[in-house]
Amino acid sequence: MNWTPASWRERQAQQLPDYPDAAHLAAVEATLAGYPPLVFAGEARALKAKLARAAEGRAFLLQGGDCAESFQEFRADTIRDTFRVLLQMAVILTFQQKLPVVKVGRIAGQFAKPRSSDFEERDGARLPAYRGDIINGTEFTPEARTPDPARMLRAYVQAASTLNLIRAFAQGGYADLHQVHAWNLEFVRNSPQTQRYEAIASKLDEALAFMAACGVTSETSPQIREVDFYTSHEALLLPYEQALTRRDSTTARPGYGGDWYDCSAHMLWIGERTRDPEGAHVEFLRGVHNPVGLKCGPSMTPDQLLRLVDALNPANEPGRLTLITRHGHDRVAERLPALVRAIRAEGRHVLWCCDPMHGNTVTAANGYKTRLFGHVLGEVRAFIDVHRAEGTYPGGVHFELTGKDVVECLGGDQQITEAHLAEGLYETLCDPRLNASQALELAFQLHA
Ligand code: PEP
Ligand code: CO
Repeated sequence: MNWTPASWRERQAQQLPDYPDAAHLAAVEATLAGYPPLVFAGEARALKAKLARAAEGRAFLLQGGDCAESFQEFRADTIRDTFRVLLQMAVILTFQQKLPVVKVGRIAGQFAKPRSSDFEERDGARLPAYRGDIINGTEFTPEARTPDPARMLRAYVQAASTLNLIRAFAQGGYADLHQVHAWNLEFVRNSPQTQRYEAIASKLDEALAFMAACGVTSETSPQIREVDFYTSHEALLLPYEQALTRRDSTTARPGYGGDWYDCSAHMLWIGERTRDPEGAHVEFLRGVHNPVGLKCGPSMTPDQLLRLVDALNPANEPGRLTLITRHGHDRVAERLPALVRAIRAEGRHVLWCCDPMHGNTVTAANGYKTRLFGHVLGEVRAFIDVHRAEGTYPGGVHFELTGKDVVECLGGDQQITEAHLAEGLYETLCDPRLNASQALELAFQLHA
């Protein structure tokens, strides 16, 4: 199929930085290409099999994490808090739906950001826009804003270290189902969600005690003791993605070196601004065997979608492609049915997932970029309604969230208002995230 890890370089690439020093960039790419992969092909295949089950309605995808990870926030507690809130949400969803929840973080590589404008102006000065810590710095100075290839090495190290801690949490006892109460104790105490969560945790304790009496315990069953947790990010910065793309030796045969996998994460997605079917990002992702996501915004037509599905999943392999729709709460009912019908009529295997964040960003009167809890919930509910009406399965959700007690999105049981945004707990470098309480509230409300 004339694909190589570098064939994207022949295509038009949106949203890539202009690195002033080409030799430095090439040197960094060569260094990264020599570093170990962050994930293994077999893990990406295992995730693909789980996503295939979710596409059929036999599992549910929970994907979430920061809009953008940052070098500054790189600490064990930040990683733990995100991991914990995702586990808590997964417990709630599993309990409500009685289905396995596939857990995928926007973490350990979610550094590069697309921007609507290449430049930012302040007081008459014009500098390159901030594009995420893997590319440049937030500070409004020419030095910080100049894209620096060395940042890719730092991002790789942070991703490796983050993944290492996540693997330890997932397998080392922290994620044991006997810890569901403990996760809650560490959690914001005054949240209205604490009691609702406690009620589930108590029922779970009873079930665990019953199973222990039957001989099923943490010692006998890894399903109780451990979780499978996967990583994902937007495959935006193609030099980084290419450098971490490797052949899977277990699929090699005489005369064939093995399937290619982008080993920077288990799952990669294409953003709303880089989904040109002829463009570099689609070219790159069509050739790697990871599960891939495709953001589908309000401007996506059924024909465009089918063309992208052809490019990204020509073999119609279940689990390969997740369509992450992000229309905005007030446009789902109008826009989503045509996409769903086109996919259904063509018999394409896809997993439908709802991102209720990126179509619902607004600017508050005091200038803060924010989102309303009611809009976020409204988009998920409208998404579920459309799929129910069309006879398809609403198989997943995709959130920007943090396990910390930040104040970035409005509303919810905590009744966060615009005035609260200015009180010092607005921390995001990019888009506003649900805080831990809002994230749990949403999980409770999803299927209410
Ligand atoms: C994102 O997921 O952070 C993002 C930029 O989304 P989208 O491409 O859908 O706008
Ligand atoms: Co975002």
